[in-house]
Amino acid sequence: MEVLIRPDADDAARTVAGIVHRALAEGVTTLGLATGSSPLGVYRDLARRHRHESLSFADVHAFLLAEYLGLPPTHPRSCAQVIRRELVGSADLDPARLHLPSGTAADPAAEARRFEHCLTEAGPVGLQILGIGVNGHIGFNEPGSSLASRTRLKTLTDDTRRDNARFFGSVDDVPRHVITQGLATIGEASHLVLIATGPHKARAVAAAVEGPVTAACPASVLQLHGHATVVVDELAASQLEQQAYYRCIARHKPAGQRY
Ligand code: GLP
Repeated sequence: MEVLIRPDADDAARTVAGIVHRALAEGVTTLGLATGSSPLGVYRDLARRHRHESLSFADVHAFLLAEYLGLPPTHPRSCAQVIRRELVGSADLDPARLHLPSGTAADPAAEARRFEHCLTEAGPVGLQILGIGVNGHIGFNEPGSSLASRTRLKTLTDDTRRDNARFFGSVDDVPRHVITQGLATIGEASHLVLIATGPHKARAVAAAVEGPVTAACPASVLQLHGHATVVVDELAASQLEQQAYYRCIARHKPAGQRY
């Protein structure tokens, strides 16, 4: 795992966008996208690169991590709609190549299986963008999620629903259930790139990067992945014990060594 500490959130977003840009330029055609506020700066920078640096998403198949159960894809707070707003609308990502679980499927278990099948057919994901919840969740894999989990229905914790109330207006409007890619599903992506910014993420980042690998901190599963990059700002890095070493690695990166 590589940890990149950036001065601020904008710099962290530009760093992740740069990693995505390079991957697409080198032929990656499958991207995993996260929602939440953390990746929004990344999507804005990718849209800017599309406008000014000829970055194209035309050949990209994009997979979302999750969808709220009960929300149709047209609901303004659905994960589908967030990505349509942030990336499909502002870059040339083909809406027909945007894949996600349906929040309105009559049989969520069958829908989860369908989405897993879709990932198998069109995947694997070349590069997966991730955020992290303050309790260490990735996707919507709440603490306690099996490290071997696949796409399935999950019940959100009250903390996560309270956190996400900022998008919905009131906690009562936040659905209680979701369909989310599992931790093992996420781990099949070739490259995991997690972005976290702000002081409220410092504890989760430290637990994920330097704590034990445990279902109690789902993001700690990144420690088992062969190619994981964690991009944080100074505030989110503040509880990392090995900060000095991560900075040393960045300063002395051998020529040609990649993220
Ligand atoms: C949400 C999403 C995650 C996201 C996380 C953090 O619940 N399902 O994909 O990473 O919570 O959100 P934010 O980036 O807004 O802090």
